[in-house]
Amino acid sequence: MSEFFGDIPPLPQPWSTLEGVSRVVVQDQGIRLPCEGAEVTVHLLTSQLLHVRVVPDGRGKPRRSWAVAQMDEAWPKVVFQVLESSSSLELISDTLRLEIQYHPLRLTFYDLQGQAFAEDAPVSCRWRADQIQANKRLHPEDRLYGLGERTGLLNQRGKICTHWTSDVWGYDNLTDSMYQAIPFVMILRPGLTYGLFLNTTHWSRFDLGSSQTDCLQITSHSRELDYYVIYGPTPAQVLDGYTQITGRMPLPPLWALGYQQCRWSYPSAAAVSNLAQEFRQRQIPCDVIYLDIDYMRGYRVFTWDPLRFPDPAQLIADLKQQGFRVVTIVDPGVKWDPEAGYAVFDQGIADHCFLYKKDGHLLHGYVWPGKTVFPDFMKARVRQWWGNWQQSLTDLGVAGIWNDMNEPALNDRPFGDGGQLVSFPLETPQGEGSDLSDHAETHNLYGLMMARASRESLDHHLGGERGFVLTRSGYAGIQRWSAVWTGDNNSLWEHLEMSLPMLSNLSLSGVSFVGADIGGFGRNASPELFARWMQVGALYPLMRGHSAKHTHPHEPWQFGSEVERICQKFIRLRYQLLPYLYTLFWQARQTGSPIWRPLLYEYPNDPQTYDLSDQVMLGSALLAAPILRPGQTHRAVYLPEGSWFDWWTGEVFFGPTHLLADAPLDQMPLYARAGAVIPLAPPMQHTQERPWDPLTLRVYAGNGDWTYYEDDGHSLGYQSDIWATTPIRVRQEGSLVRVTLYPRQGSWRPDPHRLIVQVVGYGEQQIRDDGSAQTLTFPGQVL
Ligand code: GLC
Repeated sequence: MSEFFGDIPPLPQPWSTLEGVSRVVVQDQGIRLPCEGAEVTVHLLTSQLLHVRVVPDGRGKPRRSWAVAQMDEAWPKVVFQVLESSSSLELISDTLRLEIQYHPLRLTFYDLQGQAFAEDAPVSCRWRADQIQANKRLHPEDRLYGLGERTGLLNQRGKICTHWTSDVWGYDNLTDSMYQAIPFVMILRPGLTYGLFLNTTHWSRFDLGSSQTDCLQITSHSRELDYYVIYGPTPAQVLDGYTQITGRMPLPPLWALGYQQCRWSYPSAAAVSNLAQEFRQRQIPCDVIYLDIDYMRGYRVFTWDPLRFPDPAQLIADLKQQGFRVVTIVDPGVKWDPEAGYAVFDQGIADHCFLYKKDGHLLHGYVWPGKTVFPDFMKARVRQWWGNWQQSLTDLGVAGIWNDMNEPALNDRPFGDGGQLVSFPLETPQGEGSDLSDHAETHNLYGLMMARASRESLDHHLGGERGFVLTRSGYAGIQRWSAVWTGDNNSLWEHLEMSLPMLSNLSLSGVSFVGADIGGFGRNASPELFARWMQVGALYPLMRGHSAKHTHPHEPWQFGSEVERICQKFIRLRYQLLPYLYTLFWQARQTGSPIWRPLLYEYPNDPQTYDLSDQVMLGSALLAAPILRPGQTHRAVYLPEGSWFDWWTGEVFFGPTHLLADAPLDQMPLYARAGAVIPLAPPMQHTQERPWDPLTLRVYAGNGDWTYYEDDGHSLGYQSDIWATTPIRVRQEGSLVRVTLYPRQGSWRPDPHRLIVQVVGYGEQQIRDDGSAQTLTFPGQVL
């Protein structure tokens, strides 16, 4: 890929810039500003969400909706005011004001306090050949987050972030383009957060104050500039707006929130059955077993190796009986196999499903199967064809699909022959009809469109059950189709540490269902690293252990009895937290909120949180400060304002404060916020084992309001309103704590069950929860 995009080649053409505004046309949704040949349009989609387009030749192409879930026309009309003067114009909504200066054209946004943001630099926009650039001023206090999948620390200011999906085996702190490309940045300073989403699937690059410290320079290899400005003022509001544009995730089946075990590869049906037995015998909860590429016959996608997996349906049925779901890997490359009667290849050729070069020849590269051809997922009929093949897996009982190598990753020579990673030629035609384009525009969409094919097939073929898709590559909006993991990390302390900011920035890019390979994929984990990683991993929204071929086995019991006990403790904690986590998934679906949250998301006005890369929150109630270095048994923890309770001891701390927390190998510092309600499930070996009876509501004294979400956990019924919510209020009244459960809302009726309300430090009461209102009081201890 680097041969194309190592850097932007210097282009001989001079830059053109926007001339002044020649006319103002007020429209229903905003304004159109012809500027001497070029044209600028600004649409107000909500009172805090604006869409800006600059079309240099004045002839904008109709916009396609590959990443954007809701095109401009679909937004309800917003009330705004237009104030014109001879040199400028103002568009005013009830939360912000956009000032447009005419000569030269420059946009500046203001909040109600008059703070400027997303302010055009003196050269607001310039272009040459097929390159266009926007320049926005950065405020000295601005911190920058999101930007898709990013290594390094949390705050990305000062970096250059390129958006071009890439296979980056062996990535590190300095790696730029990653598997996911999401040209969205969240910019935060005290009192103000806003987002910028560059709506182009072409190669793009954000210079986040690297060349000029006070300038955000956005360059893309497209012919027009198309971006959204999303005003907060909180990070939560920005993500709400961003995910209204790019879509939200469907609810996963509950089993996908359990522990997932993967390895490249469990080599045979017998090995998989043994693995399942080990989990159950050792009483380590687990819901999912993955099959990596070796289940296939010679790496032919949608086939099974007849010797090693002679009866996959039986194997999957047996596993299901024991409460395990099977997820199979699916690579996009199809073995070039003209002689062998390989139906996927034959059909794909006959129906013209693969990519052809501009000269009409079949395009090929080299992946696991050797010479390989690639489906054109930009074509709706190819997505459907692929989905039908995928059905051959789900018909056998496969419950989820793991899409890999979909950046797409390919070599110019057979693997092991010293070749290098290459990209399809940029002029390769892709798509058809109104989606016809070239690879320069669709490269970043390859993984997203493949994930879409997988998701649509599952929705269609699973008989009303929820499916699960996991993808390595994606683009803005990938959350609509799939969960994401952070690819090939290594068993290194640095990679454990990096997983916190990486998952935080992905989460701040609208992708809530995220995880990193627990234990590290490449290399061998030490027992200590593995134990520490499992502690953090218990809080990853996607909790999956994985390891590469030729590494030591990485299952929880492979590191001796002490580490096994620690893994068991934290995997059990994960299962205990499932009711809480499930509600967080529902929140993510409703509002785009992250499940895994950097502290700045909850405390955007506390600058102490802005560079805090080594702590994280799970929802708004739990704060973890994991151990990320060998030999450490204590660490400094920052607790923001408010009261906090030690999860393990119940000890109270008053924030904002720093403390030194003890963390022997079997402990991870974990805190709960005062006023929090955390529903906890009874012990289980897998999510299908038994109903959550009794359910425990662990309550922390203080004041808080929270809504608990329930549904059947497996069907698509929630999409037709079959769900239930219970608002819960916690109040500290003098020495009393009062917990009020409001009547359950919604049409889902869980079976009546025991509910233990446990106020930490105050005691517990058991009631029968039938959905009716209840108020419980907990008197404080008499001293
Ligand atoms: C890629 C994936 C990895 C997988 C391997 C073999 O490296 O990222 O997770 O195990 O391919 O399929």
